[in-house]
Amino acid sequence: MNVLDNIDEFNKRFKDATPEKVLRYFLDEFGDRIALSSSLSIEDQTLTDILLKINPKARIFTLDTGRLFPETYQLIDKTNLHYGIKMEVFCPQTESLQRFVRNEGINPFYESIEKRHACCQVRKLEPLGRAFQTLDAWICGLRREQSVTRADMKKIEWDENHHVLKINPLIDWTEEQVWEYIKANHVPYNALHDKGYPSIGCEPCTRAVKPGEDIRAGRWWWESPEHRECGLHQKQ
Ligand code: ADX
Ligand code: SF4
Repeated sequence: MNVLDNIDEFNKRFKDATPEKVLRYFLDEFGDRIALSSSLSIEDQTLTDILLKINPKARIFTLDTGRLFPETYQLIDKTNLHYGIKMEVFCPQTESLQRFVRNEGINPFYESIEKRHACCQVRKLEPLGRAFQTLDAWICGLRREQSVTRADMKKIEWDENHHVLKINPLIDWTEEQVWEYIKANHVPYNALHDKGYPSIGCEPCTRAVKPGEDIRAGRWWWESPEHRECGLHQKQ
């Protein structure tokens, strides 16, 4: 059965399947035309561990916006060393980034949602577009309970924005389940998680949250919750 023509069927089939089972199936199906898109979050680190246990050569890429936390850069190195891999790193295009910074300034994202999206476009979405040139499917660490914007997401989706299949093996996991996996399997994780940062993106757009606050409250905190997506996962 073709996945693309039968996404609903595949969602039924994999409804209660473990992430390992889902990944095994789609790795077989897409070979080197599928990759994990990793922000080095606890979800992505979990998927990295599962994926590499299935196939040590599975593809993993990350978007280096140039504005990540030092702790995130350290984790890229640590993860590469731990698993003996070289994550594919996509950086923004020099010319367009330079133009953007000269025109808008270095930190224009606090001024308006438009400017914030424009920064995400140059630093994340354009590089992501280049990653898609060699992909038919991408694997993401999204979980439904992460935010209002993610409540309706499916385990297997056709990604209308990027015209690739999107696989979210952890879509119905809780944060607790992810931590259990990380601890039980000694998976390296971002040092900032122990300092009040449950969700980590770019340094200027992420802050620590207070105990009891929503896990994404520290992401683009100056915007309202329904706007807190950067275009990577926003339905258009
Ligand atoms: S974001 O859109 O708000 O930044 P979030 O940090 O929750 O997303 O991450 C959700 C998923 O998007 C991650 O599990 C990962 O698959 C993908 N993702 C987010 N940021 C990056 C990045 N810098 N590089 C690669 N993938 C990313
Ligand atoms: Fe720019 Fe912030 Fe988006 Fe990072 S998260 S690309 S710094 S606007």
